[in-house]
Amino acid sequence: MFVNTITFLISLIFIYSLGNLYLLRITYINRENVEIVIGLLNQFISQNYYSPEAISKEFNTILVQPQHDYCIKSDTYKYFHQDIVMNDTYTFREYQGVVKNALQKYFFDVLPNLNLYRKNKDKPHQFKLPLKLTLPFTYYDQLVQNFKVGQQSLCLFQNYNHLPQRASLSHKNRLMTNQMNYLRILYQNHADADCIKNATYLPKTYRLFNEQECQKFFNYINSEEYEEKIRTEGPQFIVKMGKEVHRGRGIKMLFPQEREELNKKFDKGELCGSVKTFKVAQQYIGNPLLYKGHKIEFRVYWILASTNPIIAYAYDKTLIRRCIFPFDKFSLQKGAHVCNTAIVKSTLKKMQNEDDDDDDNDNDSDENNDDDDNNDEMNSQEDSLFIDWKLDHLQEILLREGRIKNKNWLQQELLPQVDRMIIHAIRSTQHTFAKDSKLGEFFAADFLLSDELDLYIMEINYNPQTLNTTESRREQHFKMVQDMVEISNAYLRSRFIRFQKIIRRLVQELEQKKQKQKDLITNQIGQEIHRAYFDRLESGISISSNNLFRLLMDENLDGTRIYKDLLQERCLF
Ligand SMILES: *[C@@H]1O[C@H](CO)[C@@H](O)[C@H](O)[C@H]1NC(C)=O
Ligand SMILES: *[C@@H]1O[C@H](CO)[C@@H](O)[C@H](O)[C@H]1NC(C)=O
Ligand SMILES: *[C@@H]1O[C@H](CO)[C@@H](O)[C@H](O)[C@H]1NC(C)=O
Ligand SMILES: *[C@@H]1O[C@H](CO)[C@@H](O)[C@H](O)[C@H]1NC(C)=O
Repeated sequence: MFVNTITFLISLIFIYSLGNLYLLRITYINRENVEIVIGLLNQFISQNYYSPEAISKEFNTILVQPQHDYCIKSDTYKYFHQDIVMNDTYTFREYQGVVKNALQKYFFDVLPNLNLYRKNKDKPHQFKLPLKLTLPFTYYDQLVQNFKVGQQSLCLFQNYNHLPQRASLSHKNRLMTNQMNYLRILYQNHADADCIKNATYLPKTYRLFNEQECQKFFNYINSEEYEEKIRTEGPQFIVKMGKEVHRGRGIKMLFPQEREELNKKFDKGELCGSVKTFKVAQQYIGNPLLYKGHKIEFRVYWILASTNPIIAYAYDKTLIRRCIFPFDKFSLQKGAHVCNTAIVKSTLKKMQNEDDDDDDNDNDSDENNDDDDNNDEMNSQEDSLFIDWKLDHLQEILLREGRIKNKNWLQQELLPQVDRMIIHAIRSTQHTFAKDSKLGEFFAADFLLSDELDLYIMEINYNPQTLNTTESRREQHFKMVQDMVEISNAYLRSRFIRFQKIIRRLVQELEQKKQKQKDLITNQIGQEIHRAYFDRLESGISISSNNLFRLLMDENLDGTRIYKDLLQERCLF
């Protein structure tokens, strides 16, 4: 009896292990087919969506060795370990700073020792992209420049925090051109004045690289009318470098001396069209809203969460900045008119040692824009130039001064205008964006409010500076990083759910030998892949109510709801 039981148990164990072996075999076969299917899906997506041809090797900031079959391995691994995508976040950032600190605090940093290449020039590539990586959060967009998209990086189950065409918004010359073309379409369609006024988000601008506009500009600044205007109203223009020059570098107020220099460089307009330049001359808003006698600007952070379709969010907390010198429209101090940390820094530096900073370098490259992200430690004097993270403060002041009556002015009037302007900025540039669900970008738009409470966008940056000057500021940025990651995850997880179903089905068809590998992606399946790749939130996936990003634009919605009803049907062309 006892022996029999043992025999019985042994046979049971034997049968159980056999079963296990069988299961193992199934999983093994299954895995191979999953790899085939995932390879085909990544290939299909690369053929139909963003996949740059040229791979530039000249500028590599990270020490990562591209692997040919990375996406197949990574996506397959995630397919069998769903929690990697559905419950966790695996990320990395090459740039030291607040964003990296935040990512390390809340998520898994899969390449904690990865650094900028230029600090490691002598070292060969030492890292491989880990299979678990879900949200690379790099500073530079190297993962699209040096890697084959859909093979070596940016796989089906990854989201990236960059959009290669972000410069359409952040290069001043391009933004200006996009704004002009956008308004031209409105004019051509006989849009009414209200539509055109609301679609105009930048102050009037002359592009000095455009011969006609350049000549118009020089005719004007050398006219009697202009002389009279500056006598009564102070400076009329601010001259900005196009391209990627931010934080006040490359910005000049057109004071008399600067006008002389510009006149000399362009021979009062004679050389328009032949002088190589990216400069633009923008109407200076000479009646800014003041705070304790200083000009202020505010910065609205916003993100593109996807470009397939366009989905954008704006952040509820807003950084208000104050200019360093008291405002006076006739002041000849740049720091009274331009409220920018770079200005502040160089001005402070100048006060210490008379170093001149080079404002006039037309060749500032794309990658230099935020070089000083690392030196964000500033002294308390500079810190007082940031007022608050909330526009509520501004509303309080305006209410107290009797300038506004509506106690919900911020929610009902200012923020809808802010959102509308960013929406117009997106609409005027979106034709340049690569259409893809894996791409996104983090921007900041700098706004100016005039004394009449008219609103203007001054410029738009990407990779906005994240200051670490005070505990509260660091916490605000930490929260913003968490909120950004939550949004990116929500869309990635939704996509993961949709593609799990497609993968399961295709693997089944392969296993039942219904289809040969090369015939697997039929036209009909192709349509299904397109639908599954189209970003939207699946039921069960939501963005938490304490996330401070508010939806700005979502092309999944219908008609004017795409724009939160902030644009009117008759203004859409
Ligand atoms: C992982 O996420 C899924 C989907 O959101 C959820 O149903 C599940 O409970 C989570 N698992 C764990 C261990 O948190
Ligand atoms: C930010 O400040 C904290 C506290 O002073 C410091 O521990 C941290 O390293 C700083 N982070 C960066 C990126 O400078
Ligand atoms: C233009 O903006 C104003 C103020 O924000 C708003 O009341 C109006 O409805 C807008 N008009 C159109 C056509 O968008
Ligand atoms: C800008 O680049 C051009 C050629 O690319 C060069 O000839 C010129 O000297 C450069 N200018 C400056 C200010 O570096």
